[in-house]
Amino acid sequence: MNTQPARIVFVRSKEGKEKLRPALSPGNLDKTIAAPVTAIIAHDLMFYENLPTAFPHRPDAIKLFQGDDKKAGNVTVAFRNGSLQGAYFIVAARALGLDRGPMSGFDNAKVDAAFFPDGRWISNFLCNLGKGDPSKIFTRSPRLTFEEACRLA
Ligand SMILES: Cc1cc2nc3c(=O)[nH]c(=O)nc-3n(C[C@H](O)[C@H](O)[C@H](O)COP(=O)(O)O)c2cc1C
Repeated sequence: MNTQPARIVFVRSKEGKEKLRPALSPGNLDKTIAAPVTAIIAHDLMFYENLPTAFPHRPDAIKLFQGDDKKAGNVTVAFRNGSLQGAYFIVAARALGLDRGPMSGFDNAKVDAAFFPDGRWISNFLCNLGKGDPSKIFTRSPRLTFEEACRLA
């Protein structure tokens, strides 16, 4: 229903990076502090507020989600659709010629406490953006074959 739950904080400043620092896993620390931009891909648990505009052909759609913002159905929609948007974000950054460093290696609760204290937005993953040093970044990793990843039914 065109919910568009993803919300993005582009962390660019030194102060912003210092707010991120305590949440980062050791392997992700230096590259995140060095990256020109670290995007926090989050989702808004009250995404449904935009439905009257975003999904105009069903004006009552908002009622499906109103009430308990933390109920499982709402959280699942926000997480699933926000993750898809996050993946498109990576593809879009790539299309612009940027290197992308998506990361799960961080403490979500610490990022949420530092950046989203009211609890309405929840962090999903981080994504560094910039131009990597080719001598230091990985080349493209192997992908599974069709047979490994798919079944025909
Ligand atoms: C959601 C997500 C989380 C990831 N977490 C980390 C991470 O915490 N640290 C890291 O160095 N790489 C992380 N990666 C990068 C993956 O290891 C990498 O994208 C994957 O191996 C495919 O790499 P390639 O597209 O460069 O071949 C993450 C990627 C994704 C999509």
